[in-house]
Amino acid sequence: MPKHLEKLSFKNPIYVLAPLAGYTDLPFRSVVKKFGADLTVSEMLSSNALVHGSKKTLHMIQKSPLEEPYSVQIAGAEVDVIRRAVEILNDEIGIDIIDLNCGCPVPKVVGHGSGSSLLLNLPLMGGIIRTIKDTSNKSMTSVKIRLGFEKKNHIEIAKMVEDSGADFIAVHGRTRAGKFKAAVDYDAIREIKEALSIPVIANGDIDSFEKAKWVLEHTGADGIMIGRGAVGAPWIFHQLKNGSQEIDKNIKHEIIMEHFDKMVEFYGLQGIPMFRKHTHTYSKGYRGASVLRNDVNRITNPSEYRGLIDEFFKNNEILV
Ligand SMILES: Cc1cc2nc3c(=O)[nH]c(=O)nc-3n(C[C@H](O)[C@H](O)[C@H](O)COP(=O)(O)O)c2cc1C
Repeated sequence: MPKHLEKLSFKNPIYVLAPLAGYTDLPFRSVVKKFGADLTVSEMLSSNALVHGSKKTLHMIQKSPLEEPYSVQIAGAEVDVIRRAVEILNDEIGIDIIDLNCGCPVPKVVGHGSGSSLLLNLPLMGGIIRTIKDTSNKSMTSVKIRLGFEKKNHIEIAKMVEDSGADFIAVHGRTRAGKFKAAVDYDAIREIKEALSIPVIANGDIDSFEKAKWVLEHTGADGIMIGRGAVGAPWIFHQLKNGSQEIDKNIKHEIIMEHFDKMVEFYGLQGIPMFRKHTHTYSKGYRGASVLRNDVNRITNPSEYRGLIDEFFKNNEILV
């Protein structure tokens, strides 16, 4: 096994950044990676868009040099389109894993039969996984699922994933009906772990060292995946792994500026409006946050924006 894939032997639990469309792009993933995320995953890419040569989608595949290993997530509902999408990814170097999205609850995605819709048609889901496995020249194939569509049938889903050749599985412990709010069913994740031989990664509402430790113990999972807990706090991976509570204000300042710079580098001027939502989450709990948010909402000039957030995060403290 190549050295950069050692973590994927799952000898020790791994810490994974969840794919979050609109958030976990290259700039965000590269700052998260600095704090010890073992695996980073691209935002979900539409297999149709890939096959149609969408420039935006191809841009989304790019990875930061730090991202080793790197996973690209695809969504789709047609075996032939998936096969062609994987053939396109085969020409892209630096990708280690192709992940299939079987969890997205968004109506636009579900309406196309993709994402969590695949949980309603397990033979099709299995056929798609098998197609990825057989077509891909990458080291691994993985699948991200929910526990069911309306009701839980998590064991049946997970067994189909395993039997179709996936190398590991990530489980968001809710059904599609549970959206992002229902209580996460960690018992169901444990049941999947007990039923499968492939590694299982637990996902859902993990946002502290204590919670991460508890989820790993309770589910027996081979890793944990963190999504929303990392938004506005890319340093969470350091905290989750080491149990340290606070990150130094100066380190936060430095990383926020690095994130901003990478956004402008990656997206050009388009990066400015895209960074607003990050500014909002980074400034949560800071004195003067609402004034800052109003200010950045009207700024379009990169150096003006940079100067403002530089001053703000250099000088302000979180109110406890
Ligand atoms: C804004 C947003 C975007 C998301 N985008 C994706 C995606 O592209 N692919 C995917 O598999 N899951 C996606 N998810 C689901 C997350 O990966 C994760 O399963 C879910 O948020 C639960 O984990 P968390 O509580 O740690 O956030 C998204 C979730 C949110 C909130």
